[in-house]
Amino acid sequence: MKTASLILDKDFVISQIDPRIYGSFIEHLGRAVYTGIYEPGHPSADEEGLRGDVIELVRRLGVPVVRYPGGNFVSGFNWEDSVGPVRDRPARLDLAWKTTETNAFGLHEFVSWCKKAGTSPMYAVNLGTRGPDAARAVVEYANHPSGTYYSDLRVKNGAKDPLGIKLWCLGNEMDGPWQMGAKTAQEYARTAHEASKLMKWVDGSIETVVCGSSGSGMPTFGEWEYRVLDECYDSVDYISLHRYYGNPHNDTPDFLASTMDLDAFIRTVGSICDTIKGKKHGKKDIRLSLDEWNVWYHSQQQDQELYKRQPWGQALPLLEDVYNFEDALLVGLMLITILNNADKVKIACMAQLVNVIAPIMTRAGGGAWAQTIYYPLMQASLYGRGRALKPVLQSPKHDTTHYSSVPTVDAAAVENEDGTLTIFAVNRSLTEDALLQLDLRAFGEIRFASHSVMHHDDMKAVNTEAAPDAVLPRKISPQLTDGAVRLPAASWNVLRFTKQG
Ligand code: AHR
Repeated sequence: MKTASLILDKDFVISQIDPRIYGSFIEHLGRAVYTGIYEPGHPSADEEGLRGDVIELVRRLGVPVVRYPGGNFVSGFNWEDSVGPVRDRPARLDLAWKTTETNAFGLHEFVSWCKKAGTSPMYAVNLGTRGPDAARAVVEYANHPSGTYYSDLRVKNGAKDPLGIKLWCLGNEMDGPWQMGAKTAQEYARTAHEASKLMKWVDGSIETVVCGSSGSGMPTFGEWEYRVLDECYDSVDYISLHRYYGNPHNDTPDFLASTMDLDAFIRTVGSICDTIKGKKHGKKDIRLSLDEWNVWYHSQQQDQELYKRQPWGQALPLLEDVYNFEDALLVGLMLITILNNADKVKIACMAQLVNVIAPIMTRAGGGAWAQTIYYPLMQASLYGRGRALKPVLQSPKHDTTHYSSVPTVDAAAVENEDGTLTIFAVNRSLTEDALLQLDLRAFGEIRFASHSVMHHDDMKAVNTEAAPDAVLPRKISPQLTDGAVRLPAASWNVLRFTKQG
């Protein structure tokens, strides 16, 4: 059996954790909204048509912020189409996903859903086909008290009080040729700066996220971030990162090593932020918003076939990845990577939340259930709040197809506000259990209170509506042998230590 060791000390602190790293994302895409969070007539729906069974699962997940309404969708979206009496709202072609958007669900409905689901909105403006004028108008509509055209329109549409949206995205993936109104770095930088400036003139309390590259594989990655931040340093608060991984060649060791890439991506963007701060002799730090991250590949073939059969359909089952056990392990590893970069990453949104590459699935008229990836996110959100501690980790290492020196055991640690110590750990070995030797030096007398393990003998096991509990974390008896805890092969572990007495 392999042995790894972990030293933790209360004084080795990475950063206070921003709870918004446990955020998520709802886009007008596929069945995320229609038959996902919104389905009038569903047995669990309330008077607004919001599915109660989904709200319950979202509440259990503990998602502090939800990005909306896109995604690629937002780059052709007129926010005005989504407010006012539903019967007057226009149906539009959505060129991003080649579907028809009815706008039956819109801004007010989303804000109401957020309240019921115990979350808060992160609203994206369209900087693809539109620009700073529409962006400042929607901030006025949402956040200005009253007495102006747009704020009075909101009041007329039934919301006397401002919607109070505090976090705004300046477009989406504007570097991508697939994006409506894609831009060069310089074109985007000027537009984003002016939009953010005007939006903050309307409401000085908001924060904005400027688009970084849509992935580290983009040819302009690095230069894009540099140019955009050079222009926008004074007017924005965060820069976005998007990252998805897949296992299309069934190379699981390589798939589980993907977080080496995520870590490098985060550190590189963080360094560019610091470079620009230095260049400008600035005082403020630009932080990172990893506002799309997940596993995404299972549904890609199926989506191409669907488009051929149903062009311009409504609420098509697009991007419906069915997640297996190994996907949950990678999600756990991604959460560990985010926590270990908690000084830089202040917002992160698992993309997405319901039906579309999502932890929660629904059937129209039927049930709602949690996919495998739901559980690591839920446990991290529940137990990963407080201060992220620097894990001094020595692990055996292995090589995979694309990565070398991959730590076989990876871990993150959090000192929770009540003094509990939580360790999240993954054993990447598919065949061998590992011993994790713990040195919890400055924690004094503490008790190993609980050990939750997520493991399945079948890496491809999934949860379904009929068998929603096939892959679950399970409590095992917390046991330390000579200061070491055993991590089963291929497992996600949550270890909790509480103060004695
Ligand atoms: O989350 C699905 C899509 O992935 C989003 O619309 C887009 O921003 C990204 O390419």
